[in-house]
Amino acid sequence: MAEITNQIEKAIALLSSNEIVAIPTETVYGLAGNIYSETAIKKIFELKKRPLFNPLIVHIKSIEALKDVALDIPPIAYKVAELFWPGPLTMVLKKQSKISDLITAGKNTVAVRVPNHPQTLSLLNQLEFPLAAPSANPFGSISPTTAKHVDAYFKEDLKLILDGGPCTVGIESTIIGFENNQAIIYRLGSISQDDIESKIGKVKLITVDETAPVAPGMLLKHYAPKTTTLLVKDVHKTIAQNPHKKIGLLLFKDAIIDTNVSCEEVLSKTGDLREAASNLYSALHRLDDCHLDLIIAEQFPDTGLGRSINDKLKRAAAV
Ligand code: TXA
Ligand code: MG
Repeated sequence: MAEITNQIEKAIALLSSNEIVAIPTETVYGLAGNIYSETAIKKIFELKKRPLFNPLIVHIKSIEALKDVALDIPPIAYKVAELFWPGPLTMVLKKQSKISDLITAGKNTVAVRVPNHPQTLSLLNQLEFPLAAPSANPFGSISPTTAKHVDAYFKEDLKLILDGGPCTVGIESTIIGFENNQAIIYRLGSISQDDIESKIGKVKLITVDETAPVAPGMLLKHYAPKTTTLLVKDVHKTIAQNPHKKIGLLLFKDAIIDTNVSCEEVLSKTGDLREAASNLYSALHRLDDCHLDLIIAEQFPDTGLGRSINDKLKRAAAV
């Protein structure tokens, strides 16, 4: 078992000596290491069993610190940073040469954000270096939104989890890059395309399979429970089609009363997409612990954050 603590000094001590520590952010917990420690970065990849071609996000303490990790930063990037940082928006920018190829998977760009979590901001302000941190889950599995989720994954293989309570936003940051001063969304996340467009105008959406460059579809499976999961429009019909299975439901706002259902999670009784997003991964973790044959997830409205939730569910349901 990892030590679960809210004492930042303990995290500082470990991070300053090439160790990795799980940290809270507003989106999901991260598995963090000193970006300038090759030892620490290697430990992140090993513990997560993450393929080396999948680059990490660098977490910095402020907009001012951006120039330490990125180069040729376009004016629009500063504008976006002023609008959304600290917060769940990650920008892909040209990297400083001192950022290792291990972090960027050999790309000449680096993904960077200022997280909006009081403890982690305080931690970053007391460290001499930024933190590389992917989500604190084994590669491909559901992201953790509590310290307990992280501990269940890594147990004694991880020394310390800085406990910052449940993540308030609950799904990963949105990732954007820039081409010819135009913003492009690479990963849908907790800031919707509409949110971004309302502030900076039209953006392109090119969500690639995050785990490329392997064969198309192969690694689409991501954020996935161990239980077989279906993403469907008509939940009633799918229940009827699976009469002998132990079924769990993941629903947006309306409960379903059906004797064939063993576990049920309603993400927001009031139909609030923000609330639904913040409950998504915890609900998936609980359903996955219910010893089900099948999780049936309801498709969300394809607008705003609903699109990001559908994207995560599509990956959870991929085979
Ligand atoms: O909310 C979040 O972003 C969380 C918290 C911990 O900050 N982190 C997170 O990290 O979701 P991770 O490793 O699970 O996802 C990082 C994504 C990967 O899919 C990776 O492909 C993309 O960021 N990425 C990293 N560097 C990139 C780059 N240079 N170009 C394009 N994509 C990049
Ligand atoms: Mg992840």
